Amino acid sequence: MRLFIDTASPKEIEEAMRWGVVSGVTTNPTLVARERFPDFHAAVRSIAAMVDGPVNAEVIALECEAMVEEARVLAGLAPNVVVKIPLTPDGLAAVRQLTREEIATNVTLVFSAAQSLMAALAGADYASVFVGRLDDAGHEGMEVVRQTTAIFDRHGLETAVIAASIRHPLHVVEAALAGADIATVPFAVLRQLLRHPLTDLGIERFLADWRQVSGNR
Ligand code: G3P
Repeated sequence: MRLFIDTASPKEIEEAMRWGVVSGVTTNPTLVARERFPDFHAAVRSIAAMVDGPVNAEVIALECEAMVEEARVLAGLAPNVVVKIPLTPDGLAAVRQLTREEIATNVTLVFSAAQSLMAALAGADYASVFVGRLDDAGHEGMEVVRQTTAIFDRHGLETAVIAASIRHPLHVVEAALAGADIATVPFAVLRQLLRHPLTDLGIERFLADWRQVSGNR
């Protein structure tokens, strides 16, 4: 199980990398639009330089040839770029072509196990299941992660499963138990994952006791 950070904020990426628990980054157009980069390519280049692991950047085009063209440009920006492609018929055709060209792909906006299977059969390196958005729509998002990992395991499909659209720490724990290869997590959730009130209380008590011990000397 690995953790990626789901953000385009250099500040958040830097801090998360410092904690030593994050091995990649996922972005999407919404996340990049929140930051002050001169343009999209500058954003991808600068994020890719901060991280050794995969940096996921999404294409905007919807037609196969245009997606492939865009993906080639994104992949040329840095060796660790993974191209995010939406799960559509044209998207899958693009993934097939990019796989032939050895450009890494992450099929995104996956909302069912059937779609995960399609992504894997097209040759995607990663499939991103949007757990939180499924929950929002009244479905159990994690069930799609469970079904996807079961199908991939049973049939020896090598596509890595990313639990995406993560909203809280329990999503990460459940994704780990469901066998997801990766959970991509917003910075706020990453911070919540580390925190526990008993840890803070424990530190406070140790410090108070230590002050007493050193005061007695
Ligand atoms: O990784 C996918 C993620 O960016 C979508 O999250 O919170 O917009 O559903 P959210």
